Amino acid sequence: MKIILFGSGQGGQMAAEWLPSDCELLAFADNNPEKWGTSSSWNEVPVINPAQIPALAPDMVWITVLNQDAARSIEAQLPKLGYTGPVGTLDPFRQVMDLRLAHLRLLAREIRRRKLPGAVAELGVYRGIFAAEINRLFPDRTFYLFDTFTGFPLNDVNAERDLTSRTRASAGDFGDTSMEQVRGRLPHPEQAVFCQGYFPDTLPADLPPLAFVSLDPDLHEPTLAGLRAFWPKLVPGGVILIHDYNSAQFEGAGKAVRTFCREQNLMVLPLADLHGSAVLLKQS
Ligand SMILES: C[S@@+](CC[C@H](N)C(=O)[O-])C[C@H]1O[C@@H](n2cnc3c(N)ncnc32)[C@H](O)[C@@H]1O
Repeated sequence: MKIILFGSGQGGQMAAEWLPSDCELLAFADNNPEKWGTSSSWNEVPVINPAQIPALAPDMVWITVLNQDAARSIEAQLPKLGYTGPVGTLDPFRQVMDLRLAHLRLLAREIRRRKLPGAVAELGVYRGIFAAEINRLFPDRTFYLFDTFTGFPLNDVNAERDLTSRTRASAGDFGDTSMEQVRGRLPHPEQAVFCQGYFPDTLPADLPPLAFVSLDPDLHEPTLAGLRAFWPKLVPGGVILIHDYNSAQFEGAGKAVRTFCREQNLMVLPLADLHGSAVLLKQS
């Protein structure tokens, strides 16, 4: 099958990894004219003007933009461009599949099977949606939750701008939450230890050994600080699940992981979820 992915950003880059080997990716189509004529970071496949789609005669166009309103308007745009063949969207996958959650469940199962000791933690909690799953999967473990609960700190955003001019992060993003909102979502709130404020300043001096950490602060500075703080606390066999490692939107997170892996001579295991998560496993 010959396919065109409409959307060359994060969704398109990860969806390209999902294609079977007998599927030929002809191009990424994108409505951003600045990208036309460039090579995508995915195997140098070209980014084209969507008006070129009918001439390439794909067997299918797969709309891989993550924004659902944008996906709807692309569905309406395709027939106007003269393309009337099969069209796919990410909707069926998003409705019944959450690969990051699947990885969390499988990792938790291994940690329980091996009876690894240790508490669990998340840096970057926001409204606690992922935190609630961690708490559900580790009901008998102390759960440390690190966040400002007022959104991205200004100094981390400024550091991100120094690192990459393409960042769209702003101070206060993800600030529409509260500790109480998160506590109300947790199935076992009695296990929660909230560490509210700027990380790493909020790191408890008596942080116990950890079996599992979810690292999801999006930006370079807290990602690197989190890795440096949590890795030494990880028990043998313990894992750090890192969101945004292969993110086109938050490049700083991947940079921080690569720096840390160089420092510690570690190999990262990239995952195939839409947001490009990755795992660091502490061997005995
Ligand atoms: C993408 S959100 C986390 C989403 C959450 N893990 C989920 O899956 O629902 C990123 C969070 O990181 C937090 N954050 C970023 N840098 C931080 C820092 N230096 N200290 C504390 N929190 C930070 C932000 O406040 C924000 O709530």
